[in-house]
Amino acid sequence: MLAFYGLILSTTESPSADFCSQILNSCVMPGFPKTIKTNDPGVLKAARHSVERFNNCTNDTFLFKESHISRALVQIVKGLKYMLDVEIGRTTCRKINHPSLDDCDFQTNHTLKQTLSCYSEVWVIPWLQRVKVTVLHCR
Ligand SMILES: *[C@@H]1O[C@H](CO)[C@@H](O)[C@H](O)[C@H]1NC(C)=O
Ligand SMILES: *[C@@H]1O[C@H](CO)[C@@H](O)[C@H](O)[C@H]1NC(C)=O
Ligand SMILES: *[C@@H]1O[C@H](CO)[C@@H](O)[C@H](O)[C@H]1NC(C)=O
Repeated sequence: MLAFYGLILSTTESPSADFCSQILNSCVMPGFPKTIKTNDPGVLKAARHSVERFNNCTNDTFLFKESHISRALVQIVKGLKYMLDVEIGRTTCRKINHPSLDDCDFQTNHTLKQTLSCYSEVWVIPWLQRVKVTVLHCR
């Protein structure tokens, strides 16, 4: 941003109205997505929210749990938007028992074992204590 202003000041012509409105608008535009560590606490929480959404939207007998986060990006948009590539796997916990995912181990039975690759977007607005999984694709 500072470099951008520097550029304007060094020009001899006064900036056009269009140029000004672009700059002003850029102040409310979202930031660019940035790579973030896959073990960042915010990333781990976002991954957990994603898998909880997955569990809630699928009729599997067993709960799935995140097994590996291969890529994480974060973007500032009225809070934080996480973009994750995450692998999820079927656990031995039955949904019907309402167990905590932390206590669930992955299936070792070859018939039941299943891993899915997911892309998810999770929007976190800390000051409203709101978390929304806006995108979730698993295959
Ligand atoms: C998803 O959550 C809603 C609300 O808690 C619940 O009524 C519904 O049965 C859940 N669906 C599945 C498939 O877990
Ligand atoms: C889950 O089961 C319910 C009730 O049998 C059904 O209405 C719903 O479409 C199913 N959802 C999925 C994702 O299969
Ligand atoms: C694996 O799961 C299948 C399906 O539930 C079951 O029939 C089979 O006995 C299980 N195998 C082992 C070794 O537990």
